[in-house]
Amino acid sequence: MMIRQEAPADVDAIRAVHGAAFARTAEPGTTPVEAGLVDALRSDPGWIPALSLVAVDDTGAIAGHVVCTRGWVASVPVLGLGPLGVLPRYQGRGIGSALMHAVLGAADALEEPLVALLGEPAYYRRFGFRPASGYGIGAPVPAWGEYFQVRALSAYQAALRGDFTYATPFNEV
Ligand SMILES: CC(C)(COP(=O)(O)OP(=O)(O)OC[C@H]1O[C@@H](n2cnc3c(N)ncnc32)[C@H](O)[C@@H]1OP(=O)(O)O)[C@@H](O)C(=O)NCCC(=O)NCCS
Repeated sequence: MMIRQEAPADVDAIRAVHGAAFARTAEPGTTPVEAGLVDALRSDPGWIPALSLVAVDDTGAIAGHVVCTRGWVASVPVLGLGPLGVLPRYQGRGIGSALMHAVLGAADALEEPLVALLGEPAYYRRFGFRPASGYGIGAPVPAWGEYFQVRALSAYQAALRGDFTYATPFNEV
């Protein structure tokens, strides 16, 4: 398995990854919103090519994808993570973890201060995510509570406080 930046030829496979990974969470017979979200993000000014990563198996097939896009804490640029998806038949083999470590390392190398996400604390805690409220960072939807988490990177400073805003396409899902 190899992690690399997405390439133009990966677009359909990435859509398929999220369509299958999130199928459980979608209304029966509908396409998960996460599949279309990646396409909308790619057309948005908040897209950062260096932070859209795919996991590729030995045959060249795309097994998973993660992306961080431009978000904001008050008026300070930060990152929003998501979606993260691994094809069901590849899950439980460390691919999700590899994608998370790779994208966090890349974000740190770009001197981004912080990554925010909405997700299961039991999964994301292992990557250093903690409830955003503990950092004085407000969720876009207050009811998200402890599911809205942040990971501080090397460039993080404690003065970074305020409400978080995702790239615009997140508001349309
Ligand atoms: C979440 C996901 C990306 C993890 O990918 P993966 O390649 O299976 O992950 P890994 O193999 O690196 O890690 C598996 C571990 O994560 C845990 N895990 C996976 N999903 C979890 C969840 N929702 N809550 C808690 N733990 C979770 C597994 O129990 C396993 O734990 P273990 O290491 O203690 O055995 C993948 O399961 C997926 O695509 N799920 C559907 C889409 C999704 O929910 N994305 C995240 C949105 S918040």
